[in-house]
Amino acid sequence: MFISLEGIDGSGKSTQARLLADRLGAEGRKVVLTREPGGSPGAEAIRRLLVEGAPDRWSPETEILLFNAARRDHLERLILPALDRGAWVVSDRFADSTRVYQGATRGDLRGLVDGLHDLVIGREPDLTVVIDMDPEIALRRGLARGSGEDRFEEFGLPFQQKLRTGFLRLAQDFPDRIRVIDGMAPADVVAERVWALM
Ligand code: TYD
Repeated sequence: MFISLEGIDGSGKSTQARLLADRLGAEGRKVVLTREPGGSPGAEAIRRLLVEGAPDRWSPETEILLFNAARRDHLERLILPALDRGAWVVSDRFADSTRVYQGATRGDLRGLVDGLHDLVIGREPDLTVVIDMDPEIALRRGLARGSGEDRFEEFGLPFQQKLRTGFLRLAQDFPDRIRVIDGMAPADVVAERVWALM
């Protein structure tokens, strides 16, 4: 199984990805926990170009190309080989993040996002869990981490609100693959909600 976790910045999906991978491992499954942008050495190098620097560092189109370059490397070098070995792959973000962050929030670029995805990725997770969260609370959490990777958080609250709407809309567009869970609870409670989907 290939599972992705999605959500706005600070939604707790990274914690949930880790807890899910731990639990699958405890059940005796082979698990690979990974993330985007990144997940393979080449994609991690591209990640640094994407998450650091001024919000207007890249045009939306250039950004879409960089995310897809990173994703292609991640898929070729890590995800597909792991699935071939029979491992479960849990990815903190995948292509839905590009659909929402680049395709739904900054002009109508969804056509470019979808076209490029079909050309160079062409693969969806078997299951995607969207952790839904109030953007105001999530944003406070995200900036409090002070990771230096705040390029997207710096777009501010209206941007995060658009993202939330974008993820919820995407879940309606892909009802067989995407499940939304309420992330407004302690991490262990949210983890149980995620586990119930397995
Ligand atoms: P991530 O490391 O998941 O950040 P966080 O843990 O704060 O949620 O992702 C880094 C940033 O990259 C995040 O703000 C979301 C953004 N992003 C996109 O804009 N498009 C994408 O396709 C992906 C994978 C991430």
